[in-house]
Amino acid sequence: MNKLIKEYIVSINSAIEKEDFGDKPQVLYEPIRYIMSLGGKRMRPLLSLLSYQLYGKNIKDIIPASLAVEIFHNFTLMHDDIMDNAPLRRGQQTVHEKWNNPVAILSGDVMLVKAYQQIIAHCPKEKLTDILEKFNQCAIEVCEGQQIDMNFEEQEQVHESEYLEMIRLKTAVLLGFSLEFGGILAMDNEADQALLYQMGVNAGIGFQLMDDLLDVYADQEKFGKQVGGDIIANKKTFLLIKANELASGENTVELNKWLAASDFDKEEKVNAVKSIYDKLNIKKLTEAKMNEYFKKAFQNLEDLDAPSERKIIIMDFFNYLINREQ
Ligand code: IPE
Ligand code: IPE
Ligand code: MG
Ligand code: MG
Ligand code: MG
Repeated sequence: MNKLIKEYIVSINSAIEKEDFGDKPQVLYEPIRYIMSLGGKRMRPLLSLLSYQLYGKNIKDIIPASLAVEIFHNFTLMHDDIMDNAPLRRGQQTVHEKWNNPVAILSGDVMLVKAYQQIIAHCPKEKLTDILEKFNQCAIEVCEGQQIDMNFEEQEQVHESEYLEMIRLKTAVLLGFSLEFGGILAMDNEADQALLYQMGVNAGIGFQLMDDLLDVYADQEKFGKQVGGDIIANKKTFLLIKANELASGENTVELNKWLAASDFDKEEKVNAVKSIYDKLNIKKLTEAKMNEYFKKAFQNLEDLDAPSERKIIIMDFFNYLINREQ
């Protein structure tokens, strides 16, 4: 990965390490320290720093503010893992598994509040209302996307366009906000701020397509999450939607059998559905869709009113996302 990006991540991690997330009751705050210390890509604060530096600013100025989007993200993960019944996060036990659901709910709630505290404490007063309004909109949309994602588990037919809208909400708008956030803190060009948001949404849709792909094809050690979790839960991922569309004859019968099964061996289901995906070349199709969205993001990047030499680092980061295994 780009050396400067690595340095940015080191700075983000050291700021997180220094953060005092709270003390008593211990069982409320310990899970926050736990999930925040498990690492991860730190992509959202990184995106804020990347858009900030585009305008010739020193990233050190906004590291504390940028932590808001990482804390918010980790809150969504803590709750998402309950909803998705996920055992593993970043190679370790999920919070609700290590403790229990009530603990994961309440620690997550505190994290959401802490994200707001971080914004209020570290953003300039004159920009605060704008930032909070945009953050609120983003946070609401993430919840909308999460609910739609769960609704789709029970819904037989989901169209590609409905899926794309769902992932725009649950995942992409936060990447959009993270980039816009750095832009708002750096300058006052509203056209560029809007373009940064759009770039994040496009990259975010590409990113979630890749996440869906990795959920089936990743090496679990590298991915850090349970491989096959989406198949087990009948998540209407891009892969499943395409398989439903393209399958015929025996494949349709087999796919429907697994989707309807209530009592099954998890590994058997994952292997069976995966082999249908393989027969239908679903991996290629998903990669093509992902590339389509990253292409839009690269175009947005080109259109920004910033020096091209400062854009290279963002190109490098998008390329890293496209090729990631984690
Ligand atoms: C996981 O996000 C949730 C999704 C939107 C797919 P990341 O893949 O960014 O998770 P970490 O923070 O790197 O662990
Ligand atoms: C998660 O989507 C999006 C949010 C956490 C808001 P996923 O459910 O696919 O994320 P992972 O795969 O558990 O990280
Ligand atoms: Mg989920
Ligand atoms: Mg999940
Ligand atoms: Mg996923």
